[in-house]
Formats: sequence, C-alpha cells, structure tokens
Amino acid sequence: MARGLFITLEGLDGSGKTTQIRRLAAWLKSRIPDEEPVLTRQPGGTGTGDRIRALVLDSRQSGLAPMTEMALMFADRAQAIAEVIQPALDQGKIVLCDRFTDSTEAYQGGGRQLGSAPVLELHRLLCNDLKPDLTLLLLPSLESSLERARRRNQRASDQNEPDESRFEAEQDAFYQRVWEKYREIAAREPGRVALIEGDLSIDEVHARIVEAVAARLLKISRFPSMLPAAAAEGASGRGGRSCDRPAPALRGEWFAHRREEFSRRDRSFHPQPDRTWPSGLRERRRHFYPRLLRLAARLFPANNLWATP
Ligand SMILES: Nc1ncnc2c1ncn2[C@@H]1O[C@H](COP(=O)(O)OP(=O)(O)O)[C@@H](O)[C@H]1O
Ligand SMILES: [Mg+2]
Repeated sequence: MARGLFITLEGLDGSGKTTQIRRLAAWLKSRIPDEEPVLTRQPGGTGTGDRIRALVLDSRQSGLAPMTEMALMFADRAQAIAEVIQPALDQGKIVLCDRFTDSTEAYQGGGRQLGSAPVLELHRLLCNDLKPDLTLLLLPSLESSLERARRRNQRASDQNEPDESRFEAEQDAFYQRVWEKYREIAAREPGRVALIEGDLSIDEVHARIVEAVAARLLKISRFPSMLPAAAAEGASGRGGRSCDRPAPALRGEWFAHRREEFSRRDRSFHPQPDRTWPSGLRERRRHFYPRLLRLAARLFPANNLWATP
C-alpha cells in the first residue's frame, strides 16, 4: 500500500501553526478534491491524548518533573501514531500534524535542558522512528510569538476556554533555549525541515508553506493530479503570483513532468492550449505546416493554391 504524506508544523506558541495548518488543509482540499487531509495536533488528537493535553498544558498543574513531562508527551504521541497517524498514512492519506517530536526536542530537550539524545532515543523506541516527510518550522521573532500567544491565551481565558497557558509562565531564557534548539534541528535536517523565518504576514507565511509543500509534492508520484498545480504554485514565488513557469529549484522536475505528460498523450497531434511543443519531426510538421499554409493564405488571398479547408 502506498504510504501517504506526513507533514508537521512546528514553532513556538503564537508562531501561527494552528492558523497555517487550517489554511494549508484548505489549499490541499482545493487542489485534490477527493483527498481529505487528516488534521491532528499534539498533545491531543485522541481521547487519551486530550486528557494528557489538559494535564500538561493547564497552568494549575504544578510540580510536573521535566522527565514526567517528556514521558507524557511521548505517551500522547505513541497513542496518536497508533490510533490516528499510522492508519491514515497506511491508507495513503495526507496527515497534517500541529507539533510532533521536534516540539519535545525543543521544549523538553532544549527548554528543560534534558538534551536531544533522550528525546531521539524515546522517539526511536516508542514511535518506531516515524519521520515526517516535511516539517514546516515557523520562527517569527521570539517577542512577536510570545506576544501573540499571550493575547490568544487571554482571549481563551475571557471566553472560558480550556486553560492551556502553563508554558506561558516560563522565563525568557527558557524560550531562548527552545528557539535555539529549533534552529539546531533545522540546521541538522535541512532536507526535512523548511524554515520559515521573520515577522511575515499570515498570507506571506501561507505562500512560503505552499511553496515548500508544492516542491515536496512534485517529488511524490502518488499525487500526479497535483503536479501541474504544484508546479504552478512553486513557480509563484514569494509574492504568490500565478504563472506556469517553475521556480529555479523546481525546473528540473517540472520539465521531467511535462515530458512525461506529453509522451502519454495521443500520438495523433492536436495543438495544446498550454503550448507544449511537439517533439518528433513528424509531429512538428503536422503542427507547423497547417499554420504556414494559413499564414500564406492570409498573405496571398487571391491565390487558390494556398486555400486550406
Ligand atoms: N503571521 C502572523 N501575523 C500576525 N498574527 C498572526 C500571524 N499568524 C498568526 N497570528 C495570530 O497569532 C495568534 C496565535 O496564532 P496561532 O495560529 O494560534 O499560533 P500557534 O498555533 O502557533 O500557537 C492568533 O491570534 C493568530 O491570529
Ligand atoms: Mg496552536
């Protein structure tokens, strides 16, 4: 069975993960109508996980030892993999996950100073070393992340939503370590992690995400219906302008795809609206000769010799 596509979103609280995961899901749905991406988050996403989420994020929960916190995060993750993520991937679905093991490495490994080694070891033991195909790491400035998270948590508290502000009480030094660990992960695994830095607008971040996802989809033959759209989106560059030329990084894949698409077409040539040029001499003749005759007929209308049907 073809494996699906596993995409995770990472970043500090307030970096925009939840906002962007929804927009990405909508973009994917609009591009592959019969594909319903599976959205999940960590901690949470399962009955057991939701109870763990309440335990680790509620600010009234005090005295949780760092090791306990890490163990709970992995207990949640093991359950989510067994119950939601792996079954969906086995069915060939696209899974979008708000936080995954990189969060544990950044918060417990970096922030709580437990180090990366135990996190990676537990990931191997408890999560079967399941690696995302692509991780979108959102890193706006530390100040704007924290400011946005505080405002959001305040709003949630005003509206009597569940308290998820336990980490908010941490000092700036804790967040600095989380931030640095995230950067370390991005530098260690550049092939998996797409780093989206800086204080960008929601639309700008979305455009970068689409670019990274499109580039990844181009490499996966399981989603052929996505290819033209993905190539076009990849081409749109930072500004989100639509055109059908790929960004330089995608050019090789784009041309390979177009060649393959052309070779699949009906042998008898008919002009394509997307201006794919015929490759064989015979097809080229069938393509150009009628045009040449029509042009000649326009230039010399009186001469019946040039008349075409
Ligand atoms: N790029 C952005 N610029 C300004 N505000 C943003 C941006 N991305 C998200 N926000 C706002 O910041 C708050 C936190 O965003 P959210 O998506 O909940 O972050 P996270 O899930 O990473 O904690 C929300 O109120 C959201 O509307
Ligand atoms: Mg969120």
